[in-house]
Amino acid sequence: METINNPEAKEYLRFSRLNRILHILMIVSFISLALTGMTLKFSYTGWAVLLSHLLGGFETAGNIHRAAAIIMFGVFFTHIYDLTRRKKREFGSWKKLLFGPDTMLFTKKDLRDFIGNLKWFLGIGPRPNYGRWTYWEKFDYFAVFWGVFVIGSTGLTLWFPEIFTLMFPGELINVATIIHSDEALLATGFIFTVHFFNTHLRPEKFPMDIVVFTGRMTLEEFKHDKPAEYEDLVKKGELDKFLVEPYPPIVLRTVRVFGWIALSLGFSITVWIIYAMIFAYR
Ligand code: HEM
Repeated sequence: METINNPEAKEYLRFSRLNRILHILMIVSFISLALTGMTLKFSYTGWAVLLSHLLGGFETAGNIHRAAAIIMFGVFFTHIYDLTRRKKREFGSWKKLLFGPDTMLFTKKDLRDFIGNLKWFLGIGPRPNYGRWTYWEKFDYFAVFWGVFVIGSTGLTLWFPEIFTLMFPGELINVATIIHSDEALLATGFIFTVHFFNTHLRPEKFPMDIVVFTGRMTLEEFKHDKPAEYEDLVKKGELDKFLVEPYPPIVLRTVRVFGWIALSLGFSITVWIIYAMIFAYR
């Protein structure tokens, strides 16, 4: 509690409450979808049989899968709604939102940062002067858009085959199963290895970065992590607007427990997939 109400200890607010809630719901829905989806995909393996018993049978696994899909669609459309609301209130036009300094779209600076980062890895250059979003954060963001479109549309086809086959030939269901299943494998593999490494396991953040849960980071971390964004806010005299009290230790402990559960489930699912692909693939 010693840091509370101490002006020196104020932290930078990186994520709004809504975005933190959406990310938590995304984690819960994605892990549920991956767990139940892989249980269906590798249903012939011993661990899938065990897991399906724990979940209440393969049919229940399918039902949990559908319920988690509704949460994921909810997260996606709430985010789109929030963007349109922020466009109206904060930016005034899509052009300003999409092409402003904090854009999520790739820019020439991202290419320079990417090359700069490779040099930094090799020890022949300084760490790039990252802004609000690094190029790998932008990549992860658009991967979700692509994933929701491909996995979501094929998932709906599997969910409501009678409706889709009114418009398309029956073979579409087989094609949708293959696309859904393989894209899901790719998404799961990517999130639980590349995304986990970039976000939590890189030496600067190891073993876990909780900023997406608390929304807060220390000023020291902010200056180091996103120097261009920090310098820009100081130059405009706007840093104070984003300074908030840190959370008490009990909140941080709770958040860490949630984070450890999510990381452990993610790593376990990855190990299961590798095992199934190497020793049991049919
Ligand atoms: C977000 C919208 C999604 C919808 C609407 C959806 C829907 C479905 C449906 C209806 C099935 C068939 C289930 C059954 O046979 O009972 C299925 C299977 C499956 N889903 Fe999803 N799903 C979605 C997202 C995901 C995600 C994010 C993943 C993984 C990360 C995933 C992985 C799988 C897998 C691996 C299967 C088994 C496919 C197979 O039999 O090879 N799904 N999904």
